[in-house]
Amino acid sequence: MRKHLLSIDDVTADDIAEIFATAAEMHDVQRRDVKKLPALRGRTVINLFFEDSTRTRSSFEIAGKWLSADTINITGKGSSTSKGESLRDTVLTIASMGVDALVMRHSASGAALQVSQWVDASVINAGDGTHEHPSQALLDAYTLQRRLGSLEGRHVVMVGDLTHSRVFRSNVLCLTKLGARVTVVAPPTLMPSGVTEWSRAAGFETSYDVDAVLPTADAVMMLRVQKERMSGGFFPSPREYTVGYGLTRDRLALLGPDVPICHPGPMNRGLEIAADAADAAQSVILDQVSAGVAVRMAILYHLLAGEGSAA
Ligand code: NCD
Repeated sequence: MRKHLLSIDDVTADDIAEIFATAAEMHDVQRRDVKKLPALRGRTVINLFFEDSTRTRSSFEIAGKWLSADTINITGKGSSTSKGESLRDTVLTIASMGVDALVMRHSASGAALQVSQWVDASVINAGDGTHEHPSQALLDAYTLQRRLGSLEGRHVVMVGDLTHSRVFRSNVLCLTKLGARVTVVAPPTLMPSGVTEWSRAAGFETSYDVDAVLPTADAVMMLRVQKERMSGGFFPSPREYTVGYGLTRDRLALLGPDVPICHPGPMNRGLEIAADAADAAQSVILDQVSAGVAVRMAILYHLLAGEGSAA
C-alpha cells in the first residue's frame, strides 16, 4: 500500500483484499471485553476535521485508540484557523510536533492531496469537498462483501445527491475495482456534469428512473441530500424529491427481502429514506458504522505498521 490514502486510486484490488482480511481480524477485537492491540504503540494520529462529523471522526479516533496509538482531535472551529491562520501554517505546526498520520476532512476538493505534499506524515483523506472519501467506500464494500460474498458481478445501485457526494465518487471506483456492476440514479439536477463520459470510461451506468432500476439491485445505497452544499434550488420541494427518488415504503417492496440497504449517514429520514427502509431488517446502516471502526483500524495498521509502511 502507498504512504497515503487520498483516493481509492491509491489502492489496488489486492490492497483492498488485504485491508478486508485485516478488518475481519479487527472485527473480532471489537467483540472482546478488552479492545486493545499494541500494534501502533508510540505512534501519534491526529484527526484534523474542518467539517462536521460524527461517524468518521469518532471511528478513526476509536480505531487509533484500540491499536494503542495516541490520537487527538482538532476541529476547525476550535483551532487557530478561526483566527485566520492558513491551512498550510496549521498543518505544518501540527506536523512539527512529530505526527505519524493525519486524518483530514476539509471542504475543499484536493485539500488532503495538497497537505500530503507539505508533510512527512501519512495523510488519510476523510472527505475532501465533493471529491473523495476513500475509507467510507472501503467500509461500504466491506459491509456488502460480508453480506453478499464476492461483489463480482453483483449489481449495486446508488441513489441520491450525486453532484455533492464524495461517497459516490469513491464508491464507484471501489466497487468497480471489486468487479461489481454499478448503476447510479439521481434527478437530472443532481447528476454531476461530465458523468456520462466518466461512466463510459469507468464502466458504470446512470439512470434517472429509480423504479426501473431497484428490482434488479443486489444492494442499494441511499445518499444524503446535502443541503449545506446547495446554493439555489436543485428540486422543487422536499416532497417532490421523496416522491421521485426517496426509498419510500412503496419502493421498499421493489427490493428483494435480502437486498441490503446502505446509507453512509447522516440520514435525512423522510427525505431520501423512509423510516420503514432505514429500520428494515435488511438495513445494514448500523453494520456500516461498526465495520467503519474495523476497516479504519485496518487502514491505520497497513499505513503505519504494515509491511512496506512508510513509518
Ligand atoms: C458522508 C460524508 O461526510 O461525506 N458521511 C460520512 O462520512 N459518514 C456523507 C454525507 O455527509 O452525506
